[in-house]
Amino acid sequence: MTFSLLSAATHGSATPAWAMLAYLVAGVFFILALRGLSSPASSRAGNRNGMVGMAIAVGTTLVMHGTNLVEIGIAIAIGAVLGVTIARRIAMTAMPELVAGFHSLVGLAAVVVGLAAWLNPAAFGITDAAGQIIAVSRVELGLGIAIGAITFSGSVIAFLKLSGRMSGSPILLPGRHVINLGTLVAILALIGAYTLSGAGGAGEGQLVIWIAVLAFAIGFLLIIPIGGADMPVVVSMLNSYSGWAAAAMGFTLGNTAMIITGALVGSSGAILSYIMCRAMNRSFISVIAGGFGADAGAGGAGGAREQRPYKQGSAEDAAYMLEQAEKVIIIPGYGMAVAQAQHALREMADKLKEKGVEVKYAIHPVAGRMPGHMNVLLAEASVPYDEVFELEDINSEFAQCDVAFIIGANDVVNPAAKTDKSSPIYGMPVFDVDKAKQVFFIKRSMGGVGYAGVDNDVFYMNQTVMLLADAKKMVEDIVKALD
Ligand code: TAP
Repeated sequence: MTFSLLSAATHGSATPAWAMLAYLVAGVFFILALRGLSSPASSRAGNRNGMVGMAIAVGTTLVMHGTNLVEIGIAIAIGAVLGVTIARRIAMTAMPELVAGFHSLVGLAAVVVGLAAWLNPAAFGITDAAGQIIAVSRVELGLGIAIGAITFSGSVIAFLKLSGRMSGSPILLPGRHVINLGTLVAILALIGAYTLSGAGGAGEGQLVIWIAVLAFAIGFLLIIPIGGADMPVVVSMLNSYSGWAAAAMGFTLGNTAMIITGALVGSSGAILSYIMCRAMNRSFISVIAGGFGADAGAGGAGGAREQRPYKQGSAEDAAYMLEQAEKVIIIPGYGMAVAQAQHALREMADKLKEKGVEVKYAIHPVAGRMPGHMNVLLAEASVPYDEVFELEDINSEFAQCDVAFIIGANDVVNPAAKTDKSSPIYGMPVFDVDKAKQVFFIKRSMGGVGYAGVDNDVFYMNQTVMLLADAKKMVEDIVKALD
């Protein structure tokens, strides 16, 4: 059914049956890839399925349109060299900005394909007998250019914010909702006008150019008001936009594989954005509408903090208390990723388990800087999956645990999210570490703040001992002390 619908929906040069079948097989591999990526245990198989699916899709396209193979080979080689170099050099902590950067390229590609189809429609097989672009292709073209341009400029802003090249604080223009809504309505009106104008010529060109210009502007306007804790949602939302841009491009090119892949990326990105919004207690609509409800204080605010008394301990103190405990819950965060402390951490957990201590890991959905960041690091250190728990599955256990061991996490344990309505993280569910009998908190200094840039009452609680050092060094010292 899907197969026949898709083949009917695509146009341009007719796709042979064998190629449609190959694209369908590639689509099945992509679905298996998404299924595999839903759990750390099956994620490697998921990645492999994705690669096989992509090889089938690209191979089929090359065989089907077997022209310009040399040029395409050169382009693939350049892309492969760049991709391998970036993949080898990139630090895990810089993945979100890399992903945002890549999304911007997908968006730009959609715009360029759209413009190419508009300039030379006959080459894309989207003209009628009179040589004019057919109406349905005009809609696809307009939408493809618009979604691609929004994805491009939005991703560039997300890249600049995440990489620290631009302030992470929301930039709130007066009347921004009216401006955004007006621009969106104008884009839709221009696509409508372009679809209905059938004669070609200079006026039509103006319409296409204005669709692109306004869409570039709205991508920029939608992302600048978003700051602080909402950035993870933005990255997955742009992921979704890039999928829809690719799907629109697939319609223009008459390529079924691109439509399937784009729709899968678009819908899975949208579902992930929704799940993250729920995890952070944010309204999905307010985030995608561009910072509805955001105030100027949100995100990376920093600022002066009052000096309050706190207790500081050593690795030996921590080792002593940890081996006396019956149950320890470890909460990893961004700092563990920076310090690359996951291997030392697993060693520490192994030693504690040998001594009869029950050890569990608690993972917050937005711990670190990308979805699944902590799961990936713990899996890399061969931490057993059955010791790793999601927020909602473990939060009730803090009341019965002897030690909450916080390593490089901050915002995800900050009680201000539950109590302080003025806090930029207010509403985000956090771990109830304040209910644990003892808390050890590893960070480098009392001066450092988490991503949201706010102070944390957990530092100053009676049962908290601050372990101020690089996370890897501190855990290695605890392991030595446990020996
Ligand atoms: P954060 O709140 O960012 O806190 C990181 C902590 O690690 C800080 O206390 C920092 O203090 C410490 N740290 C940094 N380097 C360290 C090192 N080498 N050794 C020891 N400690 C170190 O982390 P989190 O609790 O994981 O929260 C994540 C935040 O990022 C949330 O606000 C979330 O919304 C946001 N965010 C998440 C994502 C995704 S999808 N996960 C994407 C973008 C943003 P010192 O500097 O004093 O050491």
